[in-house]
Amino acid sequence: MVEYDFTDAVVFVTGAARGQGRSHALAYAEHGADVVATDICETTAESKYELGDETELDETVELARDRGAEAIGVQMDVSSEEDVEYAVETALDEFGKIDVLANNAGVAPVGSLLEMDEENWDHALDVNLKGMWLCAKHVGQHMVDRGEGGRIVNTSSTAGMVASPGLGHYTAAKHGVLGLTKTLAVELAPHDVTVNAVCPTAVDTPMTGGIVESIDEDIAEIAEQSGPDNLLDDIVQPEDISAAFLWLSSDDARFVTGIGLPVAAGATAL
Ligand SMILES: NC(=O)c1ccc[n+]([C@@H]2O[C@H](COP(=O)([O-])OP(=O)(O)OC[C@H]3O[C@@H](n4cnc5c(N)ncnc54)[C@H](O)[C@@H]3O)[C@@H](O)[C@H]2O)c1
Repeated sequence: MVEYDFTDAVVFVTGAARGQGRSHALAYAEHGADVVATDICETTAESKYELGDETELDETVELARDRGAEAIGVQMDVSSEEDVEYAVETALDEFGKIDVLANNAGVAPVGSLLEMDEENWDHALDVNLKGMWLCAKHVGQHMVDRGEGGRIVNTSSTAGMVASPGLGHYTAAKHGVLGLTKTLAVELAPHDVTVNAVCPTAVDTPMTGGIVESIDEDIAEIAEQSGPDNLLDDIVQPEDISAAFLWLSSDDARFVTGIGLPVAAGATAL
């Protein structure tokens, strides 16, 4: 992996108990950053598979410390403005500033668009889209007030670029994340805050296992027939997505803003 210098930087990571969020937290820690690892740590009524828990969040914090970082864990639900404000305040009390927001938390509770109910739709949009906005709003405001720039990296998906059967609400939210990213990039450019999105294809995380376990056979068949298919024949790992986060947060990417970067093994090429 490329060497970056995030010494003295404070990175606020959402969905950090496991999967890509944990990988991002540890990647920034390995490159010198201090880390605020946040997660809901609770499986909600609308979740169709288990989410991260408190023990996993504590493990992320310990693993970040093992890599030399100062790290804290904060439980919060990204879809609650009260929670987000509390987590940002806790981070600022502890570290005094936030340089990078790794806006990663998400859920994928499968269901076809005709059969899902309103709660299911609202939950997917609340976490995957409203949650990204709330975190960007409160961390972004801090970056503007501080006046020393910053980096926001949002997690979209290939489902932010093309259809994803069985995940219509998620697909709508992830397309929305790209719109949010572009607009935030325009609004925050005068403050030297760059805002970008990463669009992963299927990644080897508990979410992918959760989708496979909970998806209805009929939808799985439609998904199988309709793609998109990876062109490169290997499973993308969380670290592959962390590499894109590090680059977009680094000085090397100082003139990159407002983009959605597919880390998709070619899945969006056809
Ligand atoms: N896994 C994939 O194939 C894939 C592909 C493209 C994009 N993504 C996106 O990548 C991101 C990370 O997903 P992952 O694969 O690591 O999934 P994951 O389920 O392994 O991890 C997601 C983490 O987010 C947390 N979380 C869920 N709801 C939350 C909430 N309301 N508030 C705070 N934390 C919450 C969970 O507890 C969990 O620890 C998500 O935005 C997801 O949509 C995943």
